[in-house]
Amino acid sequence: MAVQQTRVAVVTGVNRGIGHAILRNLASGAHGPLVVYATTRAGTLPDGIAKHQKPHVKIISVPLSLRDPESIEALAARVAKEHEAVDVLINNAGVYYYREGISDTERADTLETNYKGTLHMCQAFLPILRNPGGRIVNVSSQAGRLRWLAPHLRPAFLARDLTLEKLDDLVREYDAAAGRGDEVKAGWPPMAYAVSKAALNAATRLLARQHPGLLINSCCPGWVATDLGAQAGTPSKTPEEGARIPLHLAFGDIGHTTGKYWANDSTADTGVGKVQEP
Ligand SMILES: NC(=O)c1ccc[n+]([C@@H]2O[C@H](COP(=O)([O-])OP(=O)(O)OC[C@H]3O[C@@H](n4cnc5c(N)ncnc54)[C@H](OP(=O)(O)O)[C@@H]3O)[C@@H](O)[C@H]2O)c1
Repeated sequence: MAVQQTRVAVVTGVNRGIGHAILRNLASGAHGPLVVYATTRAGTLPDGIAKHQKPHVKIISVPLSLRDPESIEALAARVAKEHEAVDVLINNAGVYYYREGISDTERADTLETNYKGTLHMCQAFLPILRNPGGRIVNVSSQAGRLRWLAPHLRPAFLARDLTLEKLDDLVREYDAAAGRGDEVKAGWPPMAYAVSKAALNAATRLLARQHPGLLINSCCPGWVATDLGAQAGTPSKTPEEGARIPLHLAFGDIGHTTGKYWANDSTADTGVGKVQEP
């Protein structure tokens, strides 16, 4: 029997919800020998992980906030020092203020966490992702699909010559409109969350084009019973079911698929998803 090489994974937001379910799955040894850098804002390993942990899985608990660039850089530097490469980065952490008319502070938190902070994670780890074959999974949302933007806003997000500077400008344009309270009139969706995830999907496509040796995808986990998901009612999926698509993109057979948005046909479906229109 061939000896399996130890792989290195980084997962954000593991203390609850889908991130906790992802970490439980990794701890169970389902993906072979693994070193997992598991991040929480508190920097402590959440309850309920140790009992799942197999001896061939090492879990390292790390403090990280997506709104603290230094914590992102520190983790990337530490992992670079301790390993020759990273095999999998799962950007799971995110926030959702599920109502219209959120405060400027809440809008800033949404855009900074879901878009800027997650993008910073990608940028910090891209130089040390195993190439070829390293993977990034950005946990996004169906709320970030371009159908929620007015038709005149969509082409800019899909443009093949989109740059990160232009994408930042688009997000700033939305932010300014939302600050004035006229974003919906301008064609933007009524919730900052949707724009943050649309920008994350666009960044995913852009980074995938720039790094053809890697598999960089985003996904919607479905409607999942977590603190975040329960704001909108009674979600249909368990966190374990919500973890399926991110785990498939991280470890499953996805061929050479990269730069895509993955989801099931319905947010209640429990499959591993497929490529969908962004
Ligand atoms: N649940 C759903 O129905 C659903 C649907 C579509 C997409 N998603 C996406 O799935 C991902 C996981 O969501 P969830 O449902 O599991 O939500 P959750 O239970 O609310 O967990 C969110 C996680 O993100 C962490 N987090 C929030 N802000 C952070 C920051 N600035 N820096 C670092 N970590 C931060 C939280 O840490 P703390 O505990 O410290 O706050 C927590 O661990 C999110 O990206 C979300 O947008 C979820």
